[in-house]
Amino acid sequence: MSVAKNTYNRVTTNSLLKMKSDGEKIAMLTAYDYTLAGLVDQAGIDVILVGDSASNVIAGHETTLPITLDQMIYHASAVIRAVKRALVVVDLPFGSYQADSKEALRSAIRIMKESGAHAVKLEGGNQERSSIERIIQAGIPVMGHLGLTPQSIYKFGTYTVRAKEEQEANQLIEDAKMLESAGCFGLVLEKVPAHLAKKVASLVSIPVIGIGAGNGVDGQVLVLHDMLGMSKEFSPRFLRRYLDLHTNIIGAIQQYTSDVKTKDFPNESEQY
Ligand code: KIV
Repeated sequence: MSVAKNTYNRVTTNSLLKMKSDGEKIAMLTAYDYTLAGLVDQAGIDVILVGDSASNVIAGHETTLPITLDQMIYHASAVIRAVKRALVVVDLPFGSYQADSKEALRSAIRIMKESGAHAVKLEGGNQERSSIERIIQAGIPVMGHLGLTPQSIYKFGTYTVRAKEEQEANQLIEDAKMLESAGCFGLVLEKVPAHLAKKVASLVSIPVIGIGAGNGVDGQVLVLHDMLGMSKEFSPRFLRRYLDLHTNIIGAIQQYTSDVKTKDFPNESEQY
């Protein structure tokens, strides 16, 4: 099933700009390993994000802060080996770019060189401008990330909707314009009011990909494990579950355990 307006044998940052100008919505999902990334790519996703959400869904940390640059490169390399079509964007993890633009560039270069990724993403507005410009000058495409920025969770204190007040909303609009003028090829807007996200998408020429940001933006991103229903614990309003893998996986493993214990598995045809 495809509802794409154009066929892209390989999705590039230019393809995303064309999708925005054609009014074709951009579909983005996370992936962190070879097997699932291959499935996501075969299914025809436009962008795969090797998100620092790996810190939560793969490593079991409470926040995205602990994941390291080496670990992000490990996940990104596995994803890249599986992907033939999608654009692969990799998160710069917390602590790998905030100190100064030189460190940001070094981290971005490591991701590109050691994993084979196509682009990097980093969180933040104006304070990251010099890092973004420096990375782009080195030929590395950068995606921005505004609104709820989980790497700053201890500054904000909660995961609630951002930019509900006028001042924060105006700042977010300024930051989005800055990301565009600094040369970002797109930006993620996380958990902001739908009317604000729609306004931002209309004010900038680069694609705005939303998560919990309504339908007025240029595309959507979800965490793969969440949309496949791997866990029942995380249930924000914006999450649509397309499968109930939590129930299916537990059911399959219970059945296997029972089959082993009752000596039903393996049977005659499952042995040599
Ligand atoms: O790390 C991640 O998965 C993300 C998405 C939520 C956009 O940044």
